[in-house]
Parts: sequence; C-alpha cells; structure tokens
Amino acid sequence: MSVASLVKNKLSNLFRRKSNMCCSVKFEEERKDLNSAKNKAEILLPLRILKDNTQPEIRNIRDDFPALSQRINGKQIVYLDNACMSLRPKPVIDAITSYYYEYSGCHGRVDHYFGTATTRAYESARETVRKHIGAGSSSEVIFIRNTTEGVNFIANTLYLKQGDAVLCSDLEHNSNLLPWLALRDRANIEHRIFDTADDTSFDMDSFLKKLDSRVKLVSVLLTSNLTGVTFPIREIIRESHRAGALVLIDAAQGALYHDIDVKDLDVDFMVFSGHKIVGPTGTGVLYVKERLLSELPCFLFGGETVVDTTYTGFTLGNIPNRHEAGLQDYAGVIGLGAAIQFLHGIGTGFIRKQINKLNAMATEELAKTKGVKVIGPADPGKRAGILNFYVEGMASSDISYLLNKSANIMTRSGRHCVHSWYNARKIPDSVRASFSFYNTPEEVEFFVWTLRDIIRFYT
Ligand SMILES: Cc1ncc(COP(=O)(O)O)c(C=O)c1O
Repeated sequence: MSVASLVKNKLSNLFRRKSNMCCSVKFEEERKDLNSAKNKAEILLPLRILKDNTQPEIRNIRDDFPALSQRINGKQIVYLDNACMSLRPKPVIDAITSYYYEYSGCHGRVDHYFGTATTRAYESARETVRKHIGAGSSSEVIFIRNTTEGVNFIANTLYLKQGDAVLCSDLEHNSNLLPWLALRDRANIEHRIFDTADDTSFDMDSFLKKLDSRVKLVSVLLTSNLTGVTFPIREIIRESHRAGALVLIDAAQGALYHDIDVKDLDVDFMVFSGHKIVGPTGTGVLYVKERLLSELPCFLFGGETVVDTTYTGFTLGNIPNRHEAGLQDYAGVIGLGAAIQFLHGIGTGFIRKQINKLNAMATEELAKTKGVKVIGPADPGKRAGILNFYVEGMASSDISYLLNKSANIMTRSGRHCVHSWYNARKIPDSVRASFSFYNTPEEVEFFVWTLRDIIRFYT
C-alpha cells in the first residue's frame, strides 16, 4: 500500500469516528493524530492553480481591495466569508487613516479645528446614510456598533408591557433572538415564533396565524445569513401595521444586496452593520422613524446625551445625539460614509448581478458533487450570495479547515449563529461560502474543484 493510500485510509477512519464521538482522552489523542494527518493535506491534495483571467471590470474593483492581492504561504487567497465580514476598499481605509492622521478630534463639543472637522465629517456620513436608505431626516439615523446593538437598543427601550408579544421568524440570527428571550425573562414579554417553509422561504399563512392584536412588534430579518432567502418585507410591514404592530427589520444581510428605501417601505425600525457592506468593523446604523423618535427613551446615558445636568436631574440633548452616548467611533462612522459612497460608485444592480452569477455557478457545480446537501432554496437566485451546505460523512469544521489549509479558501463552518434552527430541524453543522461582488468565476471554480478533491480524498 502506498504512503498516500495509508494516510488516506487513516484519515477516512478518523473523520468517520470523529463525527460520532464526544470529547474523551482517546478523542484528544486521535485529534492530535488527525491534526498532524490533516496538515499533510497540503501535500496530498492535488495542487490546483487559481486561474487569473479576471474580467477587467472586476479586476479594477479588486485592485481597490488591498487584502485580495496578498499571498499566504506563497499562494493567492480566496475570501468566501463575506456574509460574516466584508473586506474594505482603499477609499474606506483612506477615510479612516485621514481621520487619524489629520484631524482626530471629537464630535460636537468643541469649536477648535479638529473638533469642527470631525463634526463635519461625522455629520456628512450621517447624511450619506440618510440618503442611502431613503430616510426623511438625518435625525432618524443613529450610529451604533453593529446590528446586535441595534436590536438590543429597541428591546431595551420600546415601551412593551406584560401581555404584549414580539413576533419573529424561526430563522433569526441569535442577535434577533436573544434580546427577545432576555426581555421575556426580564419583563414577561411573550416571544412568539412563526415557521418558515422547509426550504426556509417566508410562509405568509404561518406568519398571519401568529399575528394578532397582542403582537406589538414584528422583528424579522430582511435576508437570512443561513440560506440567503429574502423575506417579502413590504407585505410583512403592511400586514403588521394592519394588525397594529410596529416592525423592526434586521438588514444585516440584505443591506449590500438590496436597495432599501425606508420611507417607501414605511418600516419603523431598521438595523444593519457597516462591516458587512465594506465599511469598518464595529460600525452600524439604527434607523428609527421620526414619529417614534421622541417617544424612544435613551438606551445609554452619559456625555453627548444631555445639554444640562444637576445632581438630581438632567435635560436631554437633541435627537439623534442623545442616542449616541459617549465618544463614538468617529473614524469608523466616517469610513462607513466612504463605504456607502464606494458602493454607489459600483451600483446595487451590478453587485446583485455579480453575486447571483457566482452563486449560480457554484450551485450548479455542487449539484454534480456526490454527498453535498445545500441548505435552503434550490434556486441560487433566491439565496443572495449564500451557499450553505454539508457533506455526508464529513465534519463541516474539517471541510473548511482543509479548504483553508490546502488552498487558502476561507469559508465558515458551524451553525452560523442560528443554533436554534439547526437544533429544531436536526440538521448537522454546515459550511457556508458567501460571495461578494469582488469575487470571480475563477475563484468559484477553484473553490468547487478543491472541495471535490477534499471530498474524494477524505470520504
Ligand atoms: C441576519 C443577521 N443578523 C444579525 C447579525 C449580527 O450582526 P453583527 O454581528 O454585526 O451585530 C448577523 C451577522 O452575521 C446577521 O447575519
């Protein structure tokens, strides 16, 4: 028996056993063994070369993303974890560095040069966001750290009383689940769930069955990070308003792929993260409809939230600054403004077209690959940039490990912060490849072929 086939047999056994075993000393020993064997993947898997015949249009876009041109261990990288974190183009990095190099002051409190420059750039970013989402007034745009903070903000400030219910889908990210479970435990607010269809598509009947006069807030995703399905937000908002409920949209995943006009949609609250739309990490936006702004108490209190205090009281400051307590991530917000401008230069139409093309290609190829099960709708056009799958007989963590180790292909494995859905449906952990507009057909091909090598070799 050749060395290669010996190792192959060994690995197959280890992988099989690993899937069935819980942690034990024996497992730890085997894990070490597996790790050293897995390291050989680099040598034992066929060496594939990432072709470089990228169209000039995409090449120009990619040139703007410094992270894409680097080599790791002498090889190109393929970044397919865009649903978690997008990469940043130079104009965003430049906006951040120029804040730090040139005028790194704080917002609103000072009239010296740096403070004025910071205030101007920060408020200009707010105006960019306002226009981008079609808000009527810039006071409706509140800067936060991420989508998670936005949902917590509303869960902690919206006036809800015992007997009220919050309605969510069964497909929500933990960030749109845990704040409501905590509210249930803290204040006895019912957390109600409607089911999505088998392929995770929105099911209007199931939604309407759960929507009654006790529901005061419907809090749902725009696009799922698990399967990429997009909910019919306009209809959800219409039906919710008809039933007397407000609506919060978690647009963490939809914000890059869809054009969103909050006024046209008549949505009450919307949250999204800057770091998923080529903006800086730890930036996000909470949109609150103007009519609701004055009723909304502060989530956090402190500097910037007030205009005057005594030892026994305070006078709140203007909206939206009263909702942005303490010094902010000025560089991040300014970078977020630059990110949105960069995206406008590319256009949502182009972004969607490119992402759909890549997902269609990958889906078609994976359909021909034995043992691969795609989660979500069969039609890639209904999955935004997401391709979530598992492979029978292989642990997902091993697949993404090997993709990365052998070919610098970065995907994500696990339950993607929707543990509740996996637990309820008894679906195994999965690998998620998520495409962005700067990915190329050559990268998709490279990903598919490497994945096939891994499956062939290890199962
Ligand atoms: C649908 C969805 N909601 C919420 C979040 C949480 O976003 P963040 O971690 O930026 O708060 C994510 C992150 O992946 C997401 O995909």
